[in-house]
Amino acid sequence: MNIAVFGANGPTGRLLTKQAIEGGHRVTAVTRNPEAFPLRNARLNVFRGDVYDLASVEQAIEGQDAVLSTLGVPFSRQPISVYSQGMDHIAKAMNKHGVRRLVCVSSSATDPHIDPDGGFIFEKIVQPAIIKTIGRTLYEDMRRMEQQVKASNLDWTIVRPSGLFETLEVTPYQMAETYIKGRFTSRNDLAACLLEQASSEEYVRKVVAVATTAVKPSMLKLIMKEAFQKKHK
Ligand SMILES: NC(=O)c1ccc[n+]([C@@H]2O[C@H](COP(=O)([O-])OP(=O)(O)OC[C@H]3O[C@@H](n4cnc5c(N)ncnc54)[C@H](OP(=O)(O)O)[C@@H]3O)[C@@H](O)[C@H]2O)c1
Repeated sequence: MNIAVFGANGPTGRLLTKQAIEGGHRVTAVTRNPEAFPLRNARLNVFRGDVYDLASVEQAIEGQDAVLSTLGVPFSRQPISVYSQGMDHIAKAMNKHGVRRLVCVSSSATDPHIDPDGGFIFEKIVQPAIIKTIGRTLYEDMRRMEQQVKASNLDWTIVRPSGLFETLEVTPYQMAETYIKGRFTSRNDLAACLLEQASSEEYVRKVVAVATTAVKPSMLKLIMKEAFQKKHK
């Protein structure tokens, strides 16, 4: 398949690009910084694009069979628009060029569920603190993106991971419609799930949750890394 990856230069996007190339696909990796992109391959086109620039999005999407998005920004107290405006441009470009299959990453935090086994501290303190304070503007924009995608006439799948962490390999990840019990998703598993969905019809026009259960990271390390260190990368 010809696949465009938005957010290709992020930690999940790099794994996704690598897995897609290894799977024999031709990949257009969209990044604002092609010179910083670490992968090179005969089936890889490292493409300079910014989702706020519609012309660059249209150029990246022309001739693709599927569009995958791992687009993201760090938490901020300022309003965030990259998910909704980026997706608006991606959908416009897909309609213009007749590309139908869209698989995009959102987050389980857009639709939080109380897990009775989740533990008092996580359910009552940590999760609300992230969703309602430091992550508030980000999740507001992700919800806008989800609404736009659901209202589109594309063959979309919204993939909701939980807290992202690293595993060296893909593990036997779990998927379920809308919600899955599981607080963590490895980036390798998320990438494999996105790639699998690109050529599957199982979850077309559905929201799917993905979780890693074979390996568990430390909660404290995860929160410190994702919520704070990433801003300074
Ligand atoms: N961290 C978590 O625990 C967690 C949990 C659930 C869901 N998620 C979501 O999972 C996804 C992947 O996360 P991640 O940590 O792997 O990636 P990420 O660091 O959030 O971002 C991915 C990439 O998006 C690109 N990007 C940002 N603004 C752009 C723009 N205007 N135009 C084009 N590209 C742009 C950046 O690449 P360039 O700078 O090279 O353009 C960035 O490296 C994100 O949507 C994230 O919100 C994260």
